[in-house]
Parts: sequence; structure tokens; C-alpha cells
Amino acid sequence: MTLHITPAAIARHCAECASHVAIEVVAETGSTNIDLLQRVNAMRGPVLLIAERQTAGRGRAGRTWLSQPGSSLTFSLAWRFKGPLHNLVGLPLAVGVALAEAMTALGVPVQLKWPNDLLKDGAKLAGILVETQAAQDGAIWAVIGAGINLLMPDQLEADIGRDVASAPWLAQMDRNALLAALLNRLASVLAEFDDTGFAAFTERWNRLQAWRGQAVRILDHGDTLHEGLSAGVDGSGRLLLDTAQGQVAVLSGDVSLRLAP
Ligand code: BTN
Repeated sequence: MTLHITPAAIARHCAECASHVAIEVVAETGSTNIDLLQRVNAMRGPVLLIAERQTAGRGRAGRTWLSQPGSSLTFSLAWRFKGPLHNLVGLPLAVGVALAEAMTALGVPVQLKWPNDLLKDGAKLAGILVETQAAQDGAIWAVIGAGINLLMPDQLEADIGRDVASAPWLAQMDRNALLAALLNRLASVLAEFDDTGFAAFTERWNRLQAWRGQAVRILDHGDTLHEGLSAGVDGSGRLLLDTAQGQVAVLSGDVSLRLAP
């Protein structure tokens, strides 16, 4: 097992589809997402930035993302899309498909909780934060951040304050090979997404869906907006819920999905 992460070692495992990605590794930073968002106007092509330690990790809906060096992967990938911005609806879900398929291929089956949390045995294994920025030349850059729990020390789980999953099988892999496997799948999915949008990923997302057919609630700041049976996503990445009033399609935003009690 190699824990030491270097750009050259990752590049040695990269497939053709990811060979144009510039790879950078830093010992410590606040947030890899913020770092890349600040640089988009100077970027010539996609950049993967990996931090051994993140001191101000950002999560969805303004939450913080806690991680510990050696126990987690924290990285962001900046990717340039043709645009316009509304074509990127569904991108966070497609990224979930990429990471879930990559981990499953490595022997760790995971499911997707809408819109894009990765669950293992019902607990959160990884989170994805996609942030977009328009460049001066009109292109749209997406900064795709991922935090993956490889091991979960007791103290970190206590700090997070809820049950979280870990993936010891991935933790014992060479970190460079692991990161390359994730990057390879991401690069292939992002290139396809830029051509087709989310519709082409609907079936793949639904195959990976957690809580399919189960009673769930959509919460908005703690208030229940909808309650029904989870019926997968449509071609725009909206969650379909079979409710007593008929089927509703829910757009992701700051709403969150929970199993109904
Ligand atoms: C979530 O809330 O589920 C999303 C978590 C995303 C965390 C990752 S860690 C690497 C990247 N940098 C950040 O500040 N956040 C993302």
C-alpha cells in the first residue's frame, strides 16, 4: 500500500481520457473547491487538486466538511463545459454516477442518495459539492469537489455527530491508483455529459439508487415539502415521488431527502 500521493504516480495509472488533466497535490489548504474557483480564469484545461489535509472543507447547503489526513480523500476537479449554464442541470448527479461506478468496480458497492450522496450500508461514505463559475471567455467551469471517508476514526465520527461509513477495502489500496481510478471514470463521464446532458445517465443513476420504492420525505429547512415513495429520477435529474396526490418531480436545491419514519 502506498499512502504517499504524487502527481506523477497518479498520472502513471491514468487512462487516455484523463491524460489531459493537470494533477496537483498540496499538503494542506483550506478548501480545494475554493482554491480552484479562484483560478478558473487562468486555467488552460482541467485541473485535479488533491489536499492531504483540508482545514476549512465546504459541504452542501453551507455545511462544513470534516476530514482527517490519511483517513479521507479530499480533492476537486475543475472541468470546462461548453455551456450554457442550464445544460449543467444534473451534473452533480452524473458525478455521483461516476464515483459510485468507480468504487463499485473497485469492489466497494455503493448506492446514490438523491441528489448525490454516496451511501454504503445505509450510511454516508462520500459527499460531492459542485460549484460553477463563468469564465471571462464565456465558458462555464465546474469545480467538482469530493470528500471520501476511507477510514473513520472514532474522534472524527464523534465530531461529525452522526453515523458515517468508511471503506477499509479502498483504504488499503495504493492511494495513487485509487485516485487515478476515480479520475478516469470522472473524465469519461464528464466528457459524455458535456455532449449529452444528464438524460443519458438516467438509467445508470436509477440502477444505483438507494431507498428505491421506500417512503421518503423532502425537507426544506426542516419542513416537510413532500412525502411519498421514491421512484427514481427523470431525464433532468429531478426526484420522482409517488404521493397520495400523484407523482411529483422535485428539483434539487437546498432541500434534503430523508427516509420517512
Ligand atoms: C457534502 O456536503 O456532502 C459535500 C462535501 C464535499 C466535500 C469536498 S472535500 C473536497 C472539496 N473541497 C471542499 O471544500 N469541499 C469538497
